[in-house]
Amino acid sequence: MSPIDKPLNNESIASFLNENVKCAVEKKIYLYDTIDSTNVEAKRLLKKGLPSSHATILAAEHQTAGKGRLGRSFYSPQSRGIYLSIIYDGKMYSNIQKDTVEITVIAAVAVRRALKEFGVEANIKWVNDLFVGNKKVCGILTEGVFSTNENGLTAIESYVIGIGINVLESKEGFPDEIKNIAGSLNKNIDRNKLIGSIVNNLFLVLAKPPIEVIKEYRKYSNVLNKLVTVIKPTIQYSARVLEITDEAHLIVELEDGSKEELLSGEISLRV
Ligand code: BTN
Repeated sequence: MSPIDKPLNNESIASFLNENVKCAVEKKIYLYDTIDSTNVEAKRLLKKGLPSSHATILAAEHQTAGKGRLGRSFYSPQSRGIYLSIIYDGKMYSNIQKDTVEITVIAAVAVRRALKEFGVEANIKWVNDLFVGNKKVCGILTEGVFSTNENGLTAIESYVIGIGINVLESKEGFPDEIKNIAGSLNKNIDRNKLIGSIVNNLFLVLAKPPIEVIKEYRKYSNVLNKLVTVIKPTIQYSARVLEITDEAHLIVELEDGSKEELLSGEISLRV
């Protein structure tokens, strides 16, 4: 498949943003041809004291050191995907601090809705991945940037919501380590429009009551009632997923009938 023909473009992304989102973003859209990681760059910007708006968008054509969860990398070939970070002002969200898992849940629901607008039916794999069929097409990495106030209290000042989507598979295909699990949308879509739709949906979902968000997350989960492998640093075991709690924890039943609550971490679907 030929490379995506429309490059990333500030004006084009802005033209797809809803009016309220455009105001929140205040023209803070940073685009890069090549960058190490848009999440790392977002944190560099925050360290420099930039930006001061409610939300900021960063996107790149190519990442040389794209980051995934659990210290993994995110494969980010030139102009074949969406490598997007959204800096969201933690103080704007509400007076109740969200943890990064809750923001990841919100982002997963928002990306699923955005993909649906492009005719793509994706499911959510706990906790941060989107799948089309049995292939991972999107990963989300939410990082909190903390600050300490004059009373010594530490709180999340900003969230950096990193979203990576494989849009078109590159000529070389995926690297060996991920080729069995990774997939692409394989649609020649306008990435500017998809970024606009993701950010619009993110704002819509952020405004929803958490209980409704988790309901939607459960509805599109591809792990509920499934047999999975729980992957921990030193041990792996099979389990059946019984429930996703309101806090997005996973309740699993082990082979001996005992139950366990997983707060975050890694599971793989058993086929
Ligand atoms: C995962 O699969 O574990 C999460 C992948 C997150 C990848 C995105 S791409 C944009 C942003 N910048 C990064 O370095 N990572 C995230």
